[in-house]
Amino acid sequence: MILVTGGAGFIGGNFVLDWLRCNDEPVINLDALTYAGNLESLASIKDDPRHIFVHGDICDRALVDRLLAEHKPRAIVHFAAESHVDRSIHGPGDFVRTNVEGTFTLLEAARAYWTTLEGAAKEAFRFHHVSTDEVYGSLGPNDPAFTETDTYEPNSPYSASKAASDHLVRAWHHTYGLPVTTSNCSNNYGPYHFPEKLIPLMITNALAGKPLPVYGDGQQIRDWLYVTDHCSAIRTILEKGQVGEVYNVGGWNEKPNIEIVHVLCTLLDELKPDVAGSYSRLITYVTDRPGHDRRYAIDARKIERDLGWRPAETFETGIRKTVEWYLANQEWVANVQSGAYRQWLETNYEAR
Ligand code: NAD
Ligand code: DAU
Repeated sequence: MILVTGGAGFIGGNFVLDWLRCNDEPVINLDALTYAGNLESLASIKDDPRHIFVHGDICDRALVDRLLAEHKPRAIVHFAAESHVDRSIHGPGDFVRTNVEGTFTLLEAARAYWTTLEGAAKEAFRFHHVSTDEVYGSLGPNDPAFTETDTYEPNSPYSASKAASDHLVRAWHHTYGLPVTTSNCSNNYGPYHFPEKLIPLMITNALAGKPLPVYGDGQQIRDWLYVTDHCSAIRTILEKGQVGEVYNVGGWNEKPNIEIVHVLCTLLDELKPDVAGSYSRLITYVTDRPGHDRRYAIDARKIERDLGWRPAETFETGIRKTVEWYLANQEWVANVQSGAYRQWLETNYEAR
């Protein structure tokens, strides 16, 4: 079996669902169920004996030790993190705790466990660390896309904490020989995405007739990847990736934010027309994010060349599926829009 951390979050949840769709190998899912963790996303596998959910913190060394000793996983896939850049600006402490201290705790537990393994089990063991393209910093309009050998220049508390975790993972391989792989992925989108991030926030605000808050001039560029393509990339790395290697994962889909918002409005105009007119009437430019990175782009040639992975979805197919999913899953959305979520909207948007 494998141990997944953060498997009740957006990408981890999609990964667990996909994993169990693709094969029969059981998953232990360790998640602290922060505001971003949601067991409703895993409702379809609630009674599946291949899924063992453990409510707990990756910083809890005794718990992680116990899970490893009891279940003897052949791999750890580490998603758990604080993941929202705006929240990291308002409260960086949680990011250092989970992303840095939590990764350190997992690495130490994994090292102790791996040392006890022998022969083929020791040889096969992998620690896969899920990271982000944001560690490389911000690109100018004509810069080439990020490659695996680019220097680290993180600019936000979030990306700095992820960069720190990447460095720890690298060091645990070089110093202790722990068999690690790392992926640095671009912006994901798709089902079960918490509506604090750009795409689900715009869809849910539009459907509620609320302003669509575009930061600054809306010309910041992100490279979008449909979430199940990220999941397939991680499965490919687990299966064929070389120990100690880093793989950049991206969708070859660079788009300015304002274009994304217009695409969402056009799709909603088609799929759920509003009597008041096009949803684009709700677009509102607001004060920019402090230190806002201008452009990210991933050069994903290494993972294609070495491991044969390419994304299956185009932006057009992925974004349509995403809007359709949100329209069909209004109850999931309503349930995550709790008191804590409304408080976040106030903190982040009211003074903009
Ligand atoms: P998310 O915020 O949706 O989910 C994070 C999950 O981790 C939640 O279920 C939360 O409960 C859990 N968690 C948080 N702190 C924990 C702790 N201390 N112990 C155990 N569980 C804890 O995040 P996401 O968007 O799914 O991102 C998953 C991973 O992928 C992160 O490491 C993130 O840095 C990385 N990543 C995200 C994107 C993206 O576009 N969302 C892109 C590239 C990389
Ligand atoms: O690049 C990968 C990263 O992508 C991941 O590592 C992060 O975990 C993930 O959250 C995401 O970070 P971003 O900051 O790029 O995502 P977000 O959805 O918050 O914002 C996308 C862009 O949209 C960014 O340029 C800021 C802008 N934006 C965002 C929000 C929430 C707006 O203009 N308005 C908004 O209300």
